Amino acid sequence: MSAVICGTGSYAPNYIMDNDRIAELVETNDTWIQERTGIRQRHIAKEETTVYMACEAAKRAVECAGISPEEIELIIVATLSSDVILPCTACEVQREIGAKGAAAFDINAACSGFVIAYNMADAFFAAGQYKTALIVAAESLSHLTDWTDRNTCILFGDGAGAAVLKSVPGKHFLSVTHSDGEKGWALTCKNRLAVEKSGFGREFYIDMNGQEIFKFAVRKVPELIREVLRKNGVKQEEIDWFVVHQANCRILEAVARHIGEPSWKFPMNLQSYGNTSSASIPLLLDEINRQGKLKKGDKILLAGFGAGLTWSGNILEWGI
Ligand code: COA
Repeated sequence: MSAVICGTGSYAPNYIMDNDRIAELVETNDTWIQERTGIRQRHIAKEETTVYMACEAAKRAVECAGISPEEIELIIVATLSSDVILPCTACEVQREIGAKGAAAFDINAACSGFVIAYNMADAFFAAGQYKTALIVAAESLSHLTDWTDRNTCILFGDGAGAAVLKSVPGKHFLSVTHSDGEKGWALTCKNRLAVEKSGFGREFYIDMNGQEIFKFAVRKVPELIREVLRKNGVKQEEIDWFVVHQANCRILEAVARHIGEPSWKFPMNLQSYGNTSSASIPLLLDEINRQGKLKKGDKILLAGFGAGLTWSGNILEWGI
């Protein structure tokens, strides 16, 4: 059995913050941000909560799939920025959309979160345990952003994306996930307890060594893509789209160059949303789906990477 996506949805907060607005907060400018990252603007959750965005994206995905919420057997939410510690966001989504019978839980795998959630649902399908799943990724990174730190505040945005997955007969693709805890220091965000123990300071916010993360992504994502292809006996030319975590346009262009693919095969929407962590891949999938770019049977290689450090990939066949 294999997983196919049969519905997508997304939600971006109403308030849009462009680069000029950021330049009022820190010493930077629109040209620098666009040249170094490709980002023009990001959506910021001023009124919306993580749960609200997750639910909106979920409802849109369920509507797109044309199923009733009661058919959903499993809900996985990927987030590093839940509103509360308990209850988990997935249970809130279950309640709000009326997916009464579904098992629901959250995972935190930072920017690899959506791909790892997809891999988990796919593994449940392969084991024969579930046939219909809802995967959501939702992030309110603006609450974890130090708006006085120009190394990070230019990069991140808020939003949510979701996909309905169904188990169908067909080739089962094997996922690849790697982690390197030794390099965890390169991208961190402490919680309240950790901050209280270490004294107040910038540690409360996302802290990042940008160059280290940049080098990690440009080295590991091409390796990941090759490993996913090799493991599944799929030739690179069979892949129609490479849907990669939207962190920086220079990272995406470098990955495309390294594996010898044209950059149009790497769809990009980070110019409008910034880096929305786990939400970036489903936000992009929903956008290109609704633009009619994806055809039934298209092979899509998903690749996520981020804090942990973690990196994860899989292949899916478009099912809509
Ligand atoms: N505006 C203007 N100037 C800035 C700036 C900003 N926001 N941030 C840094 N600079 C300056 C630096 O001070 C430095 O100046 P100097 O040459 O006088 O010392 C210069 O610009 C270059 O800084 P550097 O840090 O080398 O820039 P960079 O090309 O590495 O770009 C990032 C910085 C953060 C955009 C880039 O490293 C990056 O995208 N890394 C990956 C981050 C990421 O994707 N994180 C999430 C992963 S999931």
